[in-house]
Amino acid sequence: MASMRAARVLFLLLALVVGLSGASVPPDPVACAHGTSDCTVSNSYGAFPDRTVCRVANATFPRTEQELVAAVAAAAAAKRKVKVATTYSHSFPKLACPGGRHGTIISTERLNRTVTIDKGKRLLTVESGMLLRDLIEVAGDAGLSLPHSPYFYGVTIGGLLATGAHGSSLWGKGSAVHEYVVGVRIVTPAPASQGFAVVRELGTADPDLAAAKVSLSVLGVISQVTLVLQPLFKRSVRFVARDDSDMAEKLAVWGGLHEFGDVSWQPWLGKAIYREDGRVDVSTPGDGLNSNLGLRAQPTAEIISARAEAERLQENGTDIDRCEAARRAVVEAERMAFGFTNDGVSFTGYPVVGFQHRIQASGMCIDGEEDGLRSACPWDPRVRGDFVYESAISVALRKVPALVADMRRLRDLDPSAFCGMDAMGVLMRYVRASSSAHLGKPEDSLDIELIYYRSYGDDGEPRAHADVYDEVEQMALRKYGGVPHWGKNRNFAFDGAIAKYPRAAEFLEVKERYDPDGIFSSEWSDQVLGISGSPSVVRPGCAIEGLCVCSEDSHCAPEQGYFCRPGKVYTDARVCRFQSGRHTDEIASL
Ligand SMILES: Cc1cc2nc3c(=O)[nH]c(=O)nc-3n(C[C@H](O)[C@H](O)[C@H](O)COP(=O)(O)OP(=O)(O)OC[C@H]3O[C@@H](n4cnc5c(N)ncnc54)[C@H](O)[C@@H]3O)c2cc1C
Ligand SMILES: *[C@@H]1O[C@H](CO)[C@@H](O)[C@H](O)[C@H]1NC(C)=O
Ligand SMILES: *[C@@H]1O[C@H](CO)[C@@H](O)[C@H](O)[C@H]1NC(C)=O
Ligand SMILES: *[C@@H]1O[C@H](CO)[C@@H](O)[C@H](O)[C@H]1NC(C)=O
Repeated sequence: MASMRAARVLFLLLALVVGLSGASVPPDPVACAHGTSDCTVSNSYGAFPDRTVCRVANATFPRTEQELVAAVAAAAAAKRKVKVATTYSHSFPKLACPGGRHGTIISTERLNRTVTIDKGKRLLTVESGMLLRDLIEVAGDAGLSLPHSPYFYGVTIGGLLATGAHGSSLWGKGSAVHEYVVGVRIVTPAPASQGFAVVRELGTADPDLAAAKVSLSVLGVISQVTLVLQPLFKRSVRFVARDDSDMAEKLAVWGGLHEFGDVSWQPWLGKAIYREDGRVDVSTPGDGLNSNLGLRAQPTAEIISARAEAERLQENGTDIDRCEAARRAVVEAERMAFGFTNDGVSFTGYPVVGFQHRIQASGMCIDGEEDGLRSACPWDPRVRGDFVYESAISVALRKVPALVADMRRLRDLDPSAFCGMDAMGVLMRYVRASSSAHLGKPEDSLDIELIYYRSYGDDGEPRAHADVYDEVEQMALRKYGGVPHWGKNRNFAFDGAIAKYPRAAEFLEVKERYDPDGIFSSEWSDQVLGISGSPSVVRPGCAIEGLCVCSEDSHCAPEQGYFCRPGKVYTDARVCRFQSGRHTDEIASL
């Protein structure tokens, strides 16, 4: 998704060219009113999908595994709800919230050391709170590479595993990081006779590892992770833009042709940008760096004015204005090679060749020295800046041609409806079926990601062409059986998701054994795992925020002209569509 952030930085391009040395590091997601008690927990955007504030009674910040065991034991002894937060907590859904007001939050921010590195066996063991940034650097320094990762390095190994995070690849075991995990140490609740908490060491021979790798954090707290790495390699990257007429056929072969290939599609331009990205020998010349434009620090003033412009385009802009802004953003991002440089400073031409750990992920906005909020990540919640929905749905590869054909039909009805997306458009990445994680992808898939405007209004305000985004998401999930990324998406996407995982029962069996009292389970995890309740929230206006799929007009914003209507291509979809004038909606509802 990293490369997709370009649209929202459209108005910041001058600052981007200059680059910034300082940058305020993002805030801690855990904030306590008194010492370590009376706290709130948020994600790095300062808002969960339902916009509720998550409260906990107290927070602990263990520095060692013993302290971690003590924290879990204290919660287990008292049967208190408990959840894990990380340095920045970048997941969108309400995963990190224990629920209620009396829970405990355990932060892994101080569990960030390297435990062991075995260069001969290429094994790296780190504490679970280590940022991906530090992990890939440690690996690189030892002459090793983590072959795949998310595109943003501000996430922790514990958090990215819990949500099944991935890059893009169909080669070998594919792009999900958990495929490269060969061991974890996990702290789980235990009977009083065992001191209320135990450390379980799970290796590849232990079937429980398949549950612990991608766990939505309902099993306990992962203390350490062991990854099997590869000898250090370099990558050679090139972006090629083409018209999208043969995109469905190209998507079918692209993942086979390029080890790290992905595709971003700008439906409104009839264009797709293909990432040609493959492994090259470490002796190949080049010291390229991926410094993604949208993940760089921006001056706060620019973040605010970019958001003001985005709000103006939403509220008062025309399709022509929005499409022109989107077109300019793509042109600029392409001109700046999406932030890639050949030597860490400037871009002189493709291919960009560089070490895996300098290419696989970026996120410079978390790297700077504190500068009193003069600059920040574009989505820093202390600034009224970038605020978006991020939907990512993995659809089985064999169904992708039909999905793309449907999306093209929808596009052809009104290309400008798609102009409100993030400039890079629809990012499409490959992920292989997981045989090693119960909650990994059930099939070889293409992950389809849409990022788009979210309003700051308390209940969410209707967006231009919201119906088209809703229809695409419902199509991917319902017509084509896609699964939502556990760490992204709006509530409705999780409705029925667990039924798409053939080994969900095996996962739940481990959960029952590890945490019979469910202290690591929350309302949200119970809803998502199909244990109780539904992830959808049904109330007036709920479909505007994606909390539900509308079934009646009141779920949209009828007073503002948004009514619940069938999709235009996928007619089983129910979407909030703008219809001016009473007469038209009377006709449409007939
Ligand atoms: C800018 C940006 C770019 C992104 N790019 C990608 C991408 O390219 N590919 C992709 O797949 N995803 C991507 N993501 C999503 C991201 O990978 C997930 O949201 C990930 O879960 C965030 O990790 P985190 O460390 O911030 O975890 P958090 O959000 O803090 O935690 C996620 C879950 O894991 C649990 N958890 C954390 N640590 C532990 C532990 N030690 N033991 C048990 N449970 C734990 C938490 O309780 C929570 O339930 C991106 C997100 C952002 C913001
Ligand atoms: C956390 O709060 C609970 C009350 O909700 C209290 O019983 C417990 O002792 C507190 N733990 C710590 C470590 O402060
Ligand atoms: C661990 O985190 C601390 C505090 O953020 C940081 O100063 C330190 O460099 C990190 N250590 C490692 C090994 O990454
Ligand atoms: C849209 O236009 C109205 C009327 O001119 C104005 O009051 C409002 O502030 C504008 N909205 C934005 C976000 O610019």
